[in-house]
Amino acid sequence: MAPGWRLASALLALAASGAALARLPDGRLHGNMPRAPAVPPLSADDLVVTDASGAALPPLNTTYLFDQLIDHTNPKLGTFKQRFWTTWEFYEKGGPIVLFTPGEVNGAGYTGYLTNRTVNGQIAQQQKGATIVLEHRFYGNSTPFGNLEVSSLRFHTIQQAIDDLEYFANNVVLPMPGGDAVKPNTQAPWVLVGGSYSGALTSWAMVNKPNLFRAGYASSAVVEAILDYWGYFEPIRQFMPKNCSADVEAVIAHVDKVFTSGTKAEIDALKANWGMQDLTHLDDVAGSLRNNLWDWQSLSPDTGSEGQFFQFCDALEVKNGTVAPASGFGLEHALTAWGSYWNSTYLKDVCGKTDVVDCLGSYNSSQTYYSDTSLGNDGRSWEWIVCTQVGFLQDGPPQNHPAVVTRLVQPSYDERQCTYFFPEAFPKPTAPNVQFVNEAYKGWNVSIDRLFFANGQRDPWRESTVSADGATTRSTNEQPIAVGDGFHCSDLITENGSVDPTVLAVQQRSLTFMKTWLEGFKPSKPAKRSYSPRRKST
Ligand SMILES: *[C@@H]1O[C@H](CO)[C@@H](O)[C@H](O)[C@H]1NC(C)=O
Ligand SMILES: *[C@@H]1O[C@H](CO)[C@@H](O)[C@H](O)[C@H]1NC(C)=O
Ligand SMILES: *[C@@H]1O[C@H](CO)[C@@H](O)[C@H](O)[C@H]1NC(C)=O
Ligand SMILES: *[C@@H]1O[C@H](CO)[C@@H](O)[C@H](O)[C@H]1NC(C)=O
Ligand SMILES: *[C@@H]1O[C@H](CO)[C@@H](O)[C@H](O)[C@H]1NC(C)=O
Ligand SMILES: *[C@@H]1O[C@H](CO)[C@@H](O)[C@H](O)[C@H]1NC(C)=O
Ligand SMILES: *[C@@H]1O[C@H](CO)[C@@H](O)[C@H](O)[C@H]1NC(C)=O
Ligand SMILES: *[C@@H]1O[C@H](CO)[C@@H](O)[C@H](O)[C@H]1NC(C)=O
Repeated sequence: MAPGWRLASALLALAASGAALARLPDGRLHGNMPRAPAVPPLSADDLVVTDASGAALPPLNTTYLFDQLIDHTNPKLGTFKQRFWTTWEFYEKGGPIVLFTPGEVNGAGYTGYLTNRTVNGQIAQQQKGATIVLEHRFYGNSTPFGNLEVSSLRFHTIQQAIDDLEYFANNVVLPMPGGDAVKPNTQAPWVLVGGSYSGALTSWAMVNKPNLFRAGYASSAVVEAILDYWGYFEPIRQFMPKNCSADVEAVIAHVDKVFTSGTKAEIDALKANWGMQDLTHLDDVAGSLRNNLWDWQSLSPDTGSEGQFFQFCDALEVKNGTVAPASGFGLEHALTAWGSYWNSTYLKDVCGKTDVVDCLGSYNSSQTYYSDTSLGNDGRSWEWIVCTQVGFLQDGPPQNHPAVVTRLVQPSYDERQCTYFFPEAFPKPTAPNVQFVNEAYKGWNVSIDRLFFANGQRDPWRESTVSADGATTRSTNEQPIAVGDGFHCSDLITENGSVDPTVLAVQQRSLTFMKTWLEGFKPSKPAKRSYSPRRKST
């Protein structure tokens, strides 16, 4: 059936901006994914590159396949084909190998990360390095089995993904001249770059495999796995227009009060304000209003005050040509204005032709998006990591904290849906094991040499990065934390530096550090078996 409003919304966003965060249908169930922006080629010309001597290189979209171990704890299980893209446009012998994985998404839209349109390419250009984009296991076409069933997904863990990076670096023969002699440490310095989830993976891999990567760049890295991730909405509440947050808070407080202690007539009237009278479950109704807030994640320095999020605030805060003061227009107007905007514009954008119950309800475990195990369903693969390891459930804040989203949605809302997605793994609701992730990979307590953290003040994922309000991670010369006014992963994209000088400053600082860190590299003698990828199977 129609995959509901996330797809409709993604198509709309694509149409509006030409490129945007893809929001997969399944993403709707746990809100937005922590995902780095795609950088597809601008045109066919964009794929054509030459090396320093002017010789033509293979086009950037040339896909290479690497034989990756299915199970790093049991190599006997064999290998699968992991896709990667690479170029040696800027490479000179002795230069670094700059490795990037886009994380939880098909890698084909990310070939721009081979070029100097991103920080990866800027590092390569400055240091005369080669760039690689490696598709993450279980996304796109890099999947060991022909499906995404639980029996396959048990090989989908953060640790296996980290082991992939190590095995790849130690064994890949790059298609460039000298590409068989760029082993990490002993022959060449490797730089690991990532954004969002893959930014966290950068930190986690450097913690887990000390001495594998010479340096790292982690953008908007969600290093601390958080189960009850109400903090997602904090940067949004802090940076959205004051009148808009005041009115949204008033509406949400009203909704939560009526839905928890109102009469049936009051409840029904309030559901109808947003045309959601047919939805049975009040957490679905109130939870659906998070959509307007989730739109914040699509913002970037170049969108300014355009974008769906600001259309929403304008709908609430401009009345008959008059703009509301910082205190807003108050509950009565905000309720009607939000309902009208939702009815006339927003619901169509998110649900298309799908009816409200199928689109916004979360209690029908027979919906096909819960059981779609087909390859390429990246949303499902990410859902698996959400349900088993990272959580990041985007729900209401504690009682004493101002709320721009309902408190009716709590982790149990998502944990219930994990039982619909993966009934074999979760016969009953179980919390993801975030504690394991944080203990294994250190979360905010990361302390690693030559790891650069880049964050954006206005990033909704900020609260799980080392720049979270509650994080105690210190910025040092060995592990600098650079914060600009950007949004999610803004600093990865070169062009954003020309729009926002604070983002440019972050980018330039990283290049200065990379220069020092990479120039200090000396190939080491291989210690006996030090980079053998194989571990004894147990
Ligand atoms: C690379 O892009 C060109 C131009 O868009 C296209 O013709 C070609 O089929 C693509 N190759 C691959 C392997 O995707
Ligand atoms: C980026 O790389 C291209 C070659 O692909 C080059 O023409 C251009 O000058 C570079 N941009 C900068 C800012 O160095
Ligand atoms: C009030 O809302 C308008 C329209 O969304 C916005 O442009 C303005 O910045 C807001 N003003 C304040 C003080 O929040
Ligand atoms: C939204 O539409 C419903 C009908 O689906 C209607 O009952 C409600 O009054 C509308 N809300 C507003 C604010 O106009
Ligand atoms: C809208 O503003 C105009 C001009 O200020 C005023 O004449 C009119 O009465 C207002 N309409 C409403 C519905 O408030
Ligand atoms: C649940 O979803 C299935 C598949 O889309 C549909 O056939 C069925 O009617 C739905 N059940 C309810 C109660 O809406
Ligand atoms: C970080 O260190 C503090 C203090 O030692 C400890 O309480 C906390 O559990 C650690 N957190 C993680 C994610 O390791
Ligand atoms: C700036 O970065 C964002 C990600 O934060 C991206 O979506 C956007 O397209 C970038 N802008 C430009 C001009 O590339």
